[in-house]
Amino acid sequence: MRQTKHYTLHFLITVGIALLIVACGTPAPEVPPTPTLAPGSPEALGKAIFQGSGSCATCHSLKTNVRIVGPSLSGINDVAGTRVEGLTAEEYLLQSIMRPNDYIVEGYENVAMDPTIALRLSLEEINQVVAYLQTLE
Ligand code: HEC
Repeated sequence: MRQTKHYTLHFLITVGIALLIVACGTPAPEVPPTPTLAPGSPEALGKAIFQGSGSCATCHSLKTNVRIVGPSLSGINDVAGTRVEGLTAEEYLLQSIMRPNDYIVEGYENVAMDPTIALRLSLEEINQVVAYLQTLE
């Protein structure tokens, strides 16, 4: 009987400490929470294309510094406007998809993005993907 009580107490203390560690030590999420996209909006449609028919997600991670085949697109909207002089973020993103060889991201010279990827999508779909990419800040 005493033995059981002892174990129960021990168990509770262990669980308590474990919970404390979890509560205090939870690391900040790696990916900032993306804003909820209104269903049916160009951004939401673009997200679905990014993950689905556009197959962008097979080469591009949205986690910081995770390289699949292409660079991570985490925060892409923040750098897009600085990539090519004279191109706004939106223009650069559009160019990256439609004429990917016009600007090659540093370090990706040997794995340049295939220009035929854009041919799988309509212009409307590409614009929706660009709208989605602009939410990645
Ligand atoms: C087969 C792999 C592959 C697929 C599929 C792919 N990409 Fe890429 N992408 C790359 C590579 C490699 C690069 C870097 C080379 C370059 O700049 O062209 C790149 C570069 C980019 C860049 C520029 C990133 C920067 O930091 O400036 C954007 C934006 C982009 N891709 C968007 C897309 C979108 C949107 C799709 C889906 C429609 C897509 N990619 C599909 C491989 C891919």
